[in-house]
Amino acid sequence: IPVDPFDLVIFGGTGDLARRKILPGLFRRFIAGQMPEGSRIIGAARSEHDDAEYREVARAAIEEFGGEEKKDPALQDFLGRLHYVAIDATGEGGWSQLSGLMRDGVVRAFYFSVAPSLFGPLAERLHQHRIADGDSRIVVEKPFGRDLESAKALNATLASHFDERQIYRIDHYLGKETVQNLMAIRFGNVLFEPLWNSHYVDHIQITVAETVGVGGRGAYYDKSGAMRDMVQNHLMQLLCLIAMEPPAQFEADAVRDEKLKVIRALQPVDAHHIVRGQYDAGEDSPSYRQDSENPRSFTESFVAMRVMIANWRWAGVPFYLRTGKKLKARSSEIAVVFKDLGHSMFEGDEARHRNILSIRLQPNEGIDLQVTIKEPGPGGMRLVDVPLDMTFADALGPDGEDVPDAYERLIMDVIRGNQTLFMRGDEVEAAWAWTDPIIEGWERRADVPKLYEQGTGGPEDAQMLIHRDGRRWRDIKG
Ligand code: BG6
Repeated sequence: IPVDPFDLVIFGGTGDLARRKILPGLFRRFIAGQMPEGSRIIGAARSEHDDAEYREVARAAIEEFGGEEKKDPALQDFLGRLHYVAIDATGEGGWSQLSGLMRDGVVRAFYFSVAPSLFGPLAERLHQHRIADGDSRIVVEKPFGRDLESAKALNATLASHFDERQIYRIDHYLGKETVQNLMAIRFGNVLFEPLWNSHYVDHIQITVAETVGVGGRGAYYDKSGAMRDMVQNHLMQLLCLIAMEPPAQFEADAVRDEKLKVIRALQPVDAHHIVRGQYDAGEDSPSYRQDSENPRSFTESFVAMRVMIANWRWAGVPFYLRTGKKLKARSSEIAVVFKDLGHSMFEGDEARHRNILSIRLQPNEGIDLQVTIKEPGPGGMRLVDVPLDMTFADALGPDGEDVPDAYERLIMDVIRGNQTLFMRGDEVEAAWAWTDPIIEGWERRADVPKLYEQGTGGPEDAQMLIHRDGRRWRDIKG
């Protein structure tokens, strides 16, 4: 889909996110022909640089964090689109210069890749200096608050200067190719939707397992923990896409209305149905407490829980969620486990056969449907479960491999003015409203997370959480 010429201002333009994700992503879109003539990227940060120096910052970032494309000869042309303004977010420095750079007739987008405490001052100055117009877009990153109250305050700050249709709250999971595929699989096939309810589904598992620890970002993470860092946003979004009613159109508010209904139907989770964990020291690798440089930390690097959705579609169907650092493999998967057959006509077949639809988000994106067939051979009617396994890269060929990174896609959606894959303010607030009592409960009880061995599936208690219900976690496979 073509995009209009744009000016994208990146506040925090020399920061970690800009260097790791935004600049390399924009370069890939440039190569793909999605940065029309006349589009510019304007880095803005506190330090003094001129355009030439900023271009070197970007070149170094692309060389360090980019993929194959960094060798592309177009890099020089791309860098020519970059400009820089030294700006004081809370003072007056740089604002009239930025204002002088703005042009009419192009899309204006402002990426707030800065601490949330600066959202307000930035929004205010953009208005004061008439840099943002009624069609400008602003992009904000997580963490969007750390509880309901702070999220409300952030929403109110942004709302005092911008309409909701101008605000793009990023959850990078929504930009992942396979996450969008969840919607294609559900709503682009006749096969699954009729079975997608409590009559046929026994339970659903959502796993986002990581092998990395928190070393290097312990200061942020220790105040956050897995619940705020992953569950309130990324896992919540996956849960919404799996559980929501079919939206009438693939359109921003139609989709977000349905997601919001799911969040509002989530039942409170009691302590009995949650397990928190913290990784212990491995043979040669530090413990969570060493990584976070907080020897007395009670922050969780793992969480597993059973969540129920109180509506007609999902009554009685548990959703088991788990996510953690330093686990066995990097693997994100959603598994829809269907119910057992009501009756088996095959005599002597005592085994439990189950259809399981598993959607692999990363790595090795694909879907796998476990089906029951006859075991080959003359031994009579013996049944066996086999995978109908498809990896998207194999099925879609080389084009399928060239999928844009989540950030690239989302930034282009901002330019196109498409909010479908961004969180609306009420959605974020509803997610915090559900999360807050869980975290408050831990704080009240001074809950101590269970230590777990690195390279495993998390603490033993996480196994118990699901075994108690007569079910088991799927294996975490990379
Ligand atoms: C981020 C979290 O939002 O998502 C990190 O802050 C986490 O802690 C990351 O590692 C996971 O993202 P991805 O794309 O690697 O699955």
